[in-house]
Amino acid sequence: MTVVGIVGAQWGDEGKGKVVDLYAEFADMVLRFQGGNNAGHTLVVDGKKTIFHLIPSGVLRHGTTCVLGQGMVIDLRVLVEELDKLAGAGALDHSSLAVSDLAHVILPHHLVLDGLREDKRSGSIPVGSTRRGIGPAYEDKVGRRGLRVGDLYRPELLRSTLTEVLAYWRPMLEARGAAVPRIDDVVTALAPLAARIRPFVTDTVALLHAALDASRAILLEGAQGSMLDVDHGTYPFVTSSNTVMGGACAALGLGPTRIDEVVAIAKAYTTRVGDGPFPTELEDEVGRRLRDVGAEFGSTTGRPRRCGWFDAAAVRYAARISGATRLAVTKLDVLTGLPQIKVCVGYRLDGGPAAGFPVSDLGRVEPVYEELPGWSEPIDRARSFDDLPRNARGYVEALSSLVGCPPCLVSVGPDREQTIAMTNPFSR
Ligand code: GDP
Ligand code: IMO
Ligand code: MG
Repeated sequence: MTVVGIVGAQWGDEGKGKVVDLYAEFADMVLRFQGGNNAGHTLVVDGKKTIFHLIPSGVLRHGTTCVLGQGMVIDLRVLVEELDKLAGAGALDHSSLAVSDLAHVILPHHLVLDGLREDKRSGSIPVGSTRRGIGPAYEDKVGRRGLRVGDLYRPELLRSTLTEVLAYWRPMLEARGAAVPRIDDVVTALAPLAARIRPFVTDTVALLHAALDASRAILLEGAQGSMLDVDHGTYPFVTSSNTVMGGACAALGLGPTRIDEVVAIAKAYTTRVGDGPFPTELEDEVGRRLRDVGAEFGSTTGRPRRCGWFDAAAVRYAARISGATRLAVTKLDVLTGLPQIKVCVGYRLDGGPAAGFPVSDLGRVEPVYEELPGWSEPIDRARSFDDLPRNARGYVEALSSLVGCPPCLVSVGPDREQTIAMTNPFSR
């Protein structure tokens, strides 16, 4: 039996969707443990691109059970859209889907509140959120006034929860001139969506433990990235959930001792979408080149992603806080043609070397770079590590040694096939 976890080691969009799809070949069950449709996970299979925001990226593999775990916040409209898309492609015929009855529901006022904050009308700091209502939905969850998926089927509880939560936000919404959603309208809008997802709603903790008892291969799919973790990231410029591997345990009801391997996924450079510190950001020709060649535009919002050099200090920190055992490096092909490639190996702060990882001071640090030689040969057809030019191999080896994890996979293009698989975390 093996439980393998996947976490993003940067600021999201590391290529988790592609790697989850690859490893799902060996998995019986794939579970998403946090976040909502702020995520955009892209899969490219035989040239055909599919983006999932909620449904785990294992769904295109035959025989997988894909679980939306209870740490997630779910916009039912988006879930139903994804179900329709999958049904159209026949994908739901060969995989099964389960939605936790304890996951929280994104409600109309969450979207309104997220928008107000981003427009600076609430007095809060805009973080460049995806405006999908994620932060406010987690706030209602932690404030003990949220609506859970299972509550959709308890009419009295549904109404009383909506009454309480809308009464709580009414003064704030009205003071900003925003319309307060009407309870009847919310109930009416939710009803057909709740009916549609009902066959999938279940106790996913029991499902997970049945799979563990039957020695099934289990893959945990993280969304966002470690530097966006609410406790460990660049607060307040973070998302509102625990994106690190430990988050999966609490969010799924999985004991920490059950996780066998943790794969940290990192791009061969860095990107960030939204506001907040980014020490290695490049606002020059090289940054623009990374954005153009890497097609760095958000899969969810279409926003251009900020681009910069690989930050080994940040990825090493991410690997540590998630207990990573392996490193997957994606988008190596994007660096082809750069004569020299810089890697941040640490920071200077207040005139001296920064001690530890100064997560609260990342806006003030000065990156310390090492320069590595680039390569000019195209690498998108490489399928084994030895197919790579010497300098590309040296680059991956340098990243892996700086991060402190052996490499298990190198991705050299968006397609499922454009992959160098070095060790399979499921065959220990
Ligand atoms: P995720 O959120 O971590 O799943 O990543 P996204 O899907 O948001 O962003 C990654 C983008 O890079 C997607 O458009 C992928 O198709 C693409 N991609 C993934 N791996 C590679 C790669 O090795 N090379 C290139 N050029 N593109 C890749
Ligand atoms: P995947 O899973 C990249 C960022 C937003 C914003 C901050 C808070 O595709 O890697 P939120 O809407 O979550 O309240 O926004 O987090 N963000 C992401 N950035 N990839 C993501 O997901 C992200 N999900 C949220 O841009 O800066
Ligand atoms: Mg993404």
